[in-house]
Amino acid sequence: MSTSRPPATTTDAGIPTASDEDSLSVGRDGPLLLHDHVLIEQMAHFNRERVPERVVHAKGAGAFGRLEITNDVSQFTKAAVFQPGTVTEALVRFSTVAGEQGSPDTWRDPRGFAVKLYTTEGNYDIVGNNTPVFFVRDPIKFGHFIRSQKRRGDTGLRDNDIQWDFWTLSPESAHQVTILMGDRGIPGTFRNMNGYGSHTFMWVNAGGERYWIKYHFKTDQGITFLTQAEADVLAGEDADYHRRDLSEAIARGEHPSWTLKVQVMPFDDAPAYRFNPFDLTKVWPHADYPLIEVGRLTLDRNPENFFAEIEQSAFEPSNMVPGTGPSPDKMLLGRMFSYPDTHRYRIGANYMQLPVNRPKGTEANSYTFDGAMRYHHTGGTPMYAPNSYGGPAADTGRFGDVAGWYAAGEMVREAYSLHAEDDDWSQARALLTQVMDDAARERFVGNVAGHLSNGVSEPVLARALQYWANVDQGIAARIEQAVRR
Ligand code: NDP
Ligand code: HEM
Repeated sequence: MSTSRPPATTTDAGIPTASDEDSLSVGRDGPLLLHDHVLIEQMAHFNRERVPERVVHAKGAGAFGRLEITNDVSQFTKAAVFQPGTVTEALVRFSTVAGEQGSPDTWRDPRGFAVKLYTTEGNYDIVGNNTPVFFVRDPIKFGHFIRSQKRRGDTGLRDNDIQWDFWTLSPESAHQVTILMGDRGIPGTFRNMNGYGSHTFMWVNAGGERYWIKYHFKTDQGITFLTQAEADVLAGEDADYHRRDLSEAIARGEHPSWTLKVQVMPFDDAPAYRFNPFDLTKVWPHADYPLIEVGRLTLDRNPENFFAEIEQSAFEPSNMVPGTGPSPDKMLLGRMFSYPDTHRYRIGANYMQLPVNRPKGTEANSYTFDGAMRYHHTGGTPMYAPNSYGGPAADTGRFGDVAGWYAAGEMVREAYSLHAEDDDWSQARALLTQVMDDAARERFVGNVAGHLSNGVSEPVLARALQYWANVDQGIAARIEQAVRR
């Protein structure tokens, strides 16, 4: 124990306070005085301690570390962060999706895997999940999907019936629901799961050649999972099981790492590929586009303050650095609006100035101006462009190229064009019948049957059985037998 005296308490203005324990009253037993600024500051600031929780992915954990590039992928991208030997500071936040701040870490759910890379060309955020696909393929359905997973308006309860109602009316969900109901639906720990950028992104090399790519962060700790029964017990015993595991492992010096790999598709392969390569409900089979090693992501530093560095961290798929870009994936394009918008609401207009969010590998020289809590400011330099007084000017010679693609046509509200092998069931079927072994399939049947037996009513139940029959007749029969037992 330290024998030196702690610093004297002050107000936020630095003025020494007379007491941490007694408010100012008229006599020992008398009424309190409104001009007790110390008491008022304590109570009023306490009332404002929380920012709204994230509308999704509210419960999570995070840590800092680095991405080291171990291979030469410069033929595919000029991005400084991916050049051989480059080491870049990183922040990763893991999360569940549907649960609130205090919800158990072991609920069955996809897990968020959000990576912020503080590169020398600005922050690059890869805001993915522990699954390579998603439930829907058009951003207009995202809010509807999430409401089917969250609490009902009337009872305030989560409800399996509305989950299956949405899923069975949205057949594009089958692939992701198959992953969710399998072993990967409840990871053993955050350290023991993969991360996937999930979307198709663009890479551009120094010669201006474009490639379509997918990111895979493969856990070096190996994949583990919890059975439904194990997860149910842990949900009661330790709601923070995954958050605790990450924090304690890093504190012990067991620094988790992931090998970053990419699948690379030549730009011109896209139109004739057997699946629509921009459809977020599909993977690119490894046999078509094998994984190419890029580097290693390691987490070695816990946050010093959870609220400042993890709760107020703001990830956004729109943060893309030169040499990288989006793709025609409509979900990705929708997300590029959504995240900065929600951060302005959740944290405030100047959320990018917080230490955890601002660039560390370079400086921001933007023309955003003023707003609540503005800290860095332009001083006397111009707050408009163009100007003749030395304000920042876009370097169009170096950065003027758009990482984009040719687009023209009538405006329509229509689904993606179908490629030769596109349907909603076959990749789910491949996972179930070719990738899972007998034991994993048995657990899958048990998980689906358990979920369907808990509050799912007709006609949703009949539709759910048909949904699985579309994936595989044999599996559907086993699920039906278990449900109707
Ligand atoms: P592969 O045999 O080359 O790959 C199978 C993949 O399945 C591996 O990446 C493996 O992950 C992953 N996997 C194993 N068990 C599960 C599970 N219970 N839940 C989810 N994923 C699991 O085959 P293909 O590339 O041809 O893909 C076949 C199917 O595998 C796909 O339809 C898809 O459902 C699934 N898959 C494919 C991925 C891809 O990017 N191609 C990525 C993840 C899943 P790992 O080796 O990383 O542990
Ligand atoms: C968080 C919207 C799809 C991964 C969020 C948040 C919003 C959002 C509003 C809260 C952000 C915050 O408050 O900080 C959307 C929309 C989507 C979509 C509109 C589709 C149109 C996806 C997909 C993935 C994903 C497909 C993964 C592949 C995440 C992750 C977080 C998150 C990991 C948490 C980030 C963090 O740790 O702070 N999303 N999302 N989302 N989303 Fe999405």
